Amino acid sequence: MTTPTAPHYLFLTTSTREPGHTGNTEWLARQAAAALPAGTAQTWHHLARMNLPHFVDQRHTSGTYAPPEGDMKTLLDATLAATHIVFVAPVYWYSIPSPLKTYLDHWSAWMRVPGLAFKEPMASKTLALVTTSGDRTKAQPMIDSVALCAQFLSMTWGGALWGKGGPPGAVQADAQAMEAASRFLLTPAAA
Ligand SMILES: Cc1cc2nc3c(=O)[nH]c(=O)nc-3n(C[C@H](O)[C@H](O)[C@H](O)COP(=O)(O)O)c2cc1C
Repeated sequence: MTTPTAPHYLFLTTSTREPGHTGNTEWLARQAAAALPAGTAQTWHHLARMNLPHFVDQRHTSGTYAPPEGDMKTLLDATLAATHIVFVAPVYWYSIPSPLKTYLDHWSAWMRVPGLAFKEPMASKTLALVTTSGDRTKAQPMIDSVALCAQFLSMTWGGALWGKGGPPGAVQADAQAMEAASRFLLTPAAA
């Protein structure tokens, strides 16, 4: 795969709400995406609706991994094709939801697939986070964790957009978050 040059945003939504129920985090992320210049490439995947196998730590046994298949291959290809990766993740227990954690753990495998260049192309990408939770302070450990993941792979940190969540639609009452969403992906501010 060649390194993408034109902006291409990959949005990974990770709310585990039932199909047909759009969560606050996705709603906020869609506000941010709507502000991108017309024609900007966007790909959206809903991790909770994909078949993501458990990650197995083989670093000190076989030391390598087979190329991913199925939905994990779809996500690897989408990850490599993106210039900007946006985690659209509500705060679950001060952390990220488990589907996103599974996807993220597989980055460790993708670094060890023979013949696959993963770590180096990741360093040219931006990682950003859109999140909602009951209050802002409870989001900080998760924001710090995602920023450190970006740092580990020498990615550019695009910052975090936070909104006050709760039941579906709650974030629409957060005027500050709505205003921040309109410029978040254009001039990302560090968390
Ligand atoms: C399993 C679970 C854990 C949660 N943990 C926290 C938490 O630690 N702190 C917090 O403020 N809100 C927490 N919440 C509330 C969600 O972050 C909040 O409702 C969020 O807006 C849900 O996002 P969504 O509407 O996009 O699904 C939790 C919700 C769930 C379902």
